[in-house]
Amino acid sequence: MFLLLLLVALLPSPPGEAGKIIGGHEVTPHSRPYMAYFEFKTSGRTSVCGGFLVSTNFVLTAAHCWGSSIKLTLGGHNIRKKEETQQVIPVKNAICHPDYDNESYANDIMLLQLMWAAKLGPAVGVLKLPRYRELVMPGTVCSVAGWGRLSVNSPLATTLRETDVQVQRDEQCSGRFKYNSTTQICAGSPIKMNNSFLGDSGGPLVCQGVAQGIVSFGKKDGSPPNVYTKISSFLPWIKKTMRNHTQQGPD
Ligand SMILES: *[C@@H]1O[C@H](CO)[C@@H](O)[C@H](O)[C@H]1NC(C)=O
Ligand SMILES: *[C@@H]1O[C@H](CO)[C@@H](O)[C@H](O)[C@H]1NC(C)=O
Ligand SMILES: *[C@@H]1O[C@H](CO)[C@@H](O)[C@H](O)[C@H]1NC(C)=O
Ligand SMILES: *[C@@H]1O[C@H](CO)[C@@H](O)[C@H](O)[C@H]1NC(C)=O
Repeated sequence: MFLLLLLVALLPSPPGEAGKIIGGHEVTPHSRPYMAYFEFKTSGRTSVCGGFLVSTNFVLTAAHCWGSSIKLTLGGHNIRKKEETQQVIPVKNAICHPDYDNESYANDIMLLQLMWAAKLGPAVGVLKLPRYRELVMPGTVCSVAGWGRLSVNSPLATTLRETDVQVQRDEQCSGRFKYNSTTQICAGSPIKMNNSFLGDSGGPLVCQGVAQGIVSFGKKDGSPPNVYTKISSFLPWIKKTMRNHTQQGPD
């Protein structure tokens, strides 16, 4: 099992072609206005992850992207540039799921409460959450986007990239990983190369306009399928946590 976050220190400096999603293509700028990019520190090292806006004050991401000094960028396309559409917002609270297991990566989900509300507009918007226990059938074609690597040895992407991935039967992942079909989704066809990869962690698996999964982990060589956190099984926790932290008011 290999987490899909990326240490910035491991990045070679980008020579021309930059790395990202495997087998995908660059998105039309701001066509995924819910995408968030952030860097964070754990024991002095900096890593990068993706996430997505689920309300004006909260971004959903993976628990393994937990760290300190998190500053989010919303409304970005080329993340290495200062674009007029970008909103950079510090994180007030990083709230990991209480049952997140850092060895099996079970319950790999985290809410980031923003220091101030994001301003919604053409480049910044909210992604719809699923209904509680809503199912996604194997064969469903979903998409995943990120600023992660294109292949094992390539550097980070500068612009947001996306690829389609097909939801697989649970057996495709339970044979490869420690996998729980109640809380995880298996996606990415083993006969294609299109997949999420390093640096895509925390980004959404979007099926018919709804966030159904969160990029969690896969194989080190980038071969599909990968494991995604199944958002529909965490809806009570998401709602309760957002409500609780909103009621507290400003510190
Ligand atoms: C899947 O990967 C192939 C090969 O890189 C690429 O041509 C194709 O556009 C990808 N499909 C999608 C939907 O991104
Ligand atoms: C998992 O978390 C425990 C408790 O916080 C910590 O002691 C341990 O080092 C962590 N393990 C890994 C692999 O990060
Ligand atoms: C799968 O996850 C559910 C929900 O957390 C849990 O109740 C169940 O025991 C887990 N199953 C296995 C085999 O770990
Ligand atoms: C609500 O938030 C407070 C303060 O952050 C925390 O101590 C408490 O455990 C939270 N309660 C729930 C039900 O999440």
